[in-house]
Amino acid sequence: MNFSTVLLFALALVICLSACRKEETAGKSHEERTASGEKLYMAHCAACHQANGQGLAGAFPPLTGSSYLAEGAGPAISVVLNGLSGPIAVNGENYNAVMPGLSYLNDEEIAKILTFVMNSWGNPGGEVSPAEVAATRGGGDLGELPDP
Ligand code: HEC
Repeated sequence: MNFSTVLLFALALVICLSACRKEETAGKSHEERTASGEKLYMAHCAACHQANGQGLAGAFPPLTGSSYLAEGAGPAISVVLNGLSGPIAVNGENYNAVMPGLSYLNDEEIAKILTFVMNSWGNPGGEVSPAEVAATRGGGDLGELPDP
């Protein structure tokens, strides 16, 4: 075996390893993504929306059975990426506060957090993909926010 053959084998191995690793991320089960989303939620959202998702009356709106999440995760993706401010009503309560955008989270992290949120606290379920987050981030599409 000469040097270039060895080099070729090494290259093939590296390509295979990185391809296999990508496969692993994409193939993560719904349960694994939800569990990982819960951890990320606790780190990035629970300070305001609370660990139980119920928010704080008058300050932070609830994510439990939220009218924002009833139609799907689309509006929530733009809220997390772009933040939200101004008067809104959630589940019959009025809020007029500021949520900063958390666009420093990557697409997969936001997708996992929202998959966890959508499948918790009486929200309608579903799976949020990193591609959906990427599309909203890239397109500057603010989504359709429900009327207050
Ligand atoms: C610094 C506090 C803060 C953090 C951190 C925060 N939010 Fe918010 N969030 C708010 C506030 C305040 C509002 C309401 C803004 C308004 O009054 O216009 C809001 C609104 C929302 C809404 C729309 C209203 C509702 O209750 O459904 C969603 C969805 C949401 N946040 C999700 C998240 C998620 C997911 C995270 C973590 C990735 C997060 N937020 C992190 C403060 C926060």
